[in-house]
Amino acid sequence: MALFGNIFRKKSKAVIDINTLPVHIAIIPDGNGRWAKRRGLPRNAGHREGSNTLKTIVKYCAKLGIKYMTVFTFSTENWKRPKSEVDGLMSLLKEFLKNAEHELSGSNVRIKVIGDVSVLSEELQREISRVEKLTEKNTGLLLNIALNYGGRDEIVFAVKQIGKEIAEGKLKLSDIDSKLISERLYTCGIPDPDLIIRTSGEKRSSNFLLWQSAYSEYWYTNVLWPDFKPDDLKEAIRDYQLRNRRFGGI
Ligand code: IPE
Ligand code: MG
Repeated sequence: MALFGNIFRKKSKAVIDINTLPVHIAIIPDGNGRWAKRRGLPRNAGHREGSNTLKTIVKYCAKLGIKYMTVFTFSTENWKRPKSEVDGLMSLLKEFLKNAEHELSGSNVRIKVIGDVSVLSEELQREISRVEKLTEKNTGLLLNIALNYGGRDEIVFAVKQIGKEIAEGKLKLSDIDSKLISERLYTCGIPDPDLIIRTSGEKRSSNFLLWQSAYSEYWYTNVLWPDFKPDDLKEAIRDYQLRNRRFGGI
């Protein structure tokens, strides 16, 4: 039943209010491996299908008028996976970037990669710089691709940076506040996510946007990422719009 669950899923009737859309949607796409396993396919086939889902959802978000989107494509912990899977994920990311201008053309999407890219292959680093440069003037959706990203890693990086600036006399201890810390993170200049979506039934943050998620609304679904459709995104947005965000107030 689970295997065919997506086929019989009824169409979403979610009506979303275009005036109160989340400004920043972050996504933890999960379940590629299980999607493949259920079909007797290699895990990398699930990642390939997941990459197609990503293109569809990015285009849909751009069309809706979402301003920022951050997707967790590869975590600092994912290196623990078998080499063949890591290689597969890296080549899919390279392919995604290579085809982005063609596949996302007309969507006015700007692409930025966040994470420690210094350890990635030179070819991938070149591709990242090329796409970032190529899309930097686009004024639509900003797509942040979290690649070799870890929330703790990012905070360590920011703390080191601040320490360095203090040692060099560029900052005083009293200059440190939460605004300054936000400005030293990879996501500098980007508002915190309003809505964080995780697929496949897992309910963890897994080291994703630790600092930035302080007041984010989480939304979970059992749908596996390769099966995730624009209608599922609409459900998430609808649910988000029904919530009452108080940010610690009453
Ligand atoms: C998420 O799917 C893919 C990424 C790492 C980007 P998984 O590979 O974690 O799929 P499951 O959890 O094994 O089903
Ligand atoms: Mg997983």
